[in-house]
Amino acid sequence: MISKVTADAPKHQIDLFELLMILVAPLVSVQRVVGSFSVRAFEHSNHCKKYCDIAITSTPSPSYLKHHRRSGDYLTTQALAGFTMLLNYQHLSSRIRFSRVISSGPMQYWGDQTASSSPQERSNAPPIPKHSTEDALQGLRQALPPQSKSWLAFYSSVTGGIVSDPALMVLPVDDHLVHRGHAVFDTANIAHGKVYGLSFHLDRLLKSAKAARIDHAPSKEELRHAVLHTVAASGARDGAFVRYWLSAGRGDFLVSPSRCVPEANFYVMVHEGGSRDKALSQKNGVHEAFVPASVVPFKPKMLANAKTTNYLLNALTAMAAEDRGGALGIGVDDQGNITEQATACVAFLGADQVLRCPPFNPILEGTTLRRAVELLEPIPGVFNGTVEMNLPVTIEHAKNAVEVISFGGGAVLPIVSIDTSALSNSIDPGDSITVGKGVPGPLFGSIKEQTAKDFETSLDFLDVAPYSSYE
Ligand SMILES: Cc1ncc(COP(=O)(O)O)c(C=O)c1O
Repeated sequence: MISKVTADAPKHQIDLFELLMILVAPLVSVQRVVGSFSVRAFEHSNHCKKYCDIAITSTPSPSYLKHHRRSGDYLTTQALAGFTMLLNYQHLSSRIRFSRVISSGPMQYWGDQTASSSPQERSNAPPIPKHSTEDALQGLRQALPPQSKSWLAFYSSVTGGIVSDPALMVLPVDDHLVHRGHAVFDTANIAHGKVYGLSFHLDRLLKSAKAARIDHAPSKEELRHAVLHTVAASGARDGAFVRYWLSAGRGDFLVSPSRCVPEANFYVMVHEGGSRDKALSQKNGVHEAFVPASVVPFKPKMLANAKTTNYLLNALTAMAAEDRGGALGIGVDDQGNITEQATACVAFLGADQVLRCPPFNPILEGTTLRRAVELLEPIPGVFNGTVEMNLPVTIEHAKNAVEVISFGGGAVLPIVSIDTSALSNSIDPGDSITVGKGVPGPLFGSIKEQTAKDFETSLDFLDVAPYSSYE
């Protein structure tokens, strides 16, 4: 863990102490005669220990380097033309460290990532602090992103417990999820004090686990127990989301998990979920972009069918879409057929009143779309009740659609325009099609209502979290 500078470094003013050091500078000429040597001076105040090294050297001596490394100080010697004076400050209360180099050669900052440096200079770079347990914990707390305020509870099978301190919501680095991406995951929504669709999400998790040969997983009921108890411990009853990961296990850094400890690991995270963003998108509609396989290749079927932690291509799809003003992207394969979005399925309502969904065969079987299709009812003049799920959906279908709807993570969103620039391999956003009238359509309105009702009333799909155990 590299400690972060958490406050501005003190302003540099040359004081008497430094002036004295600068006066020593002419000794550089002595170096030419007598060889390398270094001088160190200290100045202490209540909060700040300031010390100054003057290393007059053309190449640092091994013993000098060794001493300074051992003592944990910044190394100051550099093979500069003249001399180097490095002022090291250690702000003791907040553990800020920074350094300023004054030299007769070019000014250099160790932390400057863009500066080219020689191997000698790199070997002299300041050491990374070795943290005590308390320092590491403090570092974890200080490094938390603002979003961590919405992280409510985390269960880890590693510790066998639930924590609410976001700094402790971490995974062991030897977990094969971390260093090999050998894990599967799934999610569920929390609404009205209940978890929606946990059963079918757990079924998909276990199906994905089978594809990933994580065959030593806890049973579905054990997984359900961990998820529901983490939700209950979070206290979240509405507008929250639960994510969970099942990993091959931990124990070594090899590629095959065969020599790991025998247990798979399970992690559960409950956080507040962007219900405001969702409401806004549902009201105004979402702008999307086609992302053809020539821009981001589509996953092999085996990976696409399973919900694994190998989401690099999904991330790149979303980024390619963002480059063009989109959000999750709409994948297009080499044959010009629509696939899926980075984290959602997509469906197209034609002027012929038929809803077309790309076949699940080469993509992830989305639970939101599956359920919505079960709930759908014909709307006179808009949708005749026919849903095509087994035939390819082409770009032409997409371009001629009167409504385009995104289904993912329990959310249903209307897509009102699609950028087409990537189809001609251009990165200039601009070429786009407007879907229907460019506003959310009536089929979307109906699906949104049905899905919201389903969250509340479909008892078969609802699990109650045992909140009273944690109050
Ligand atoms: C690649 C991909 N496709 C589709 C979906 C939609 O699945 P669901 O509706 O079950 O959330 C997801 C969900 O995360 C996904 O990651």
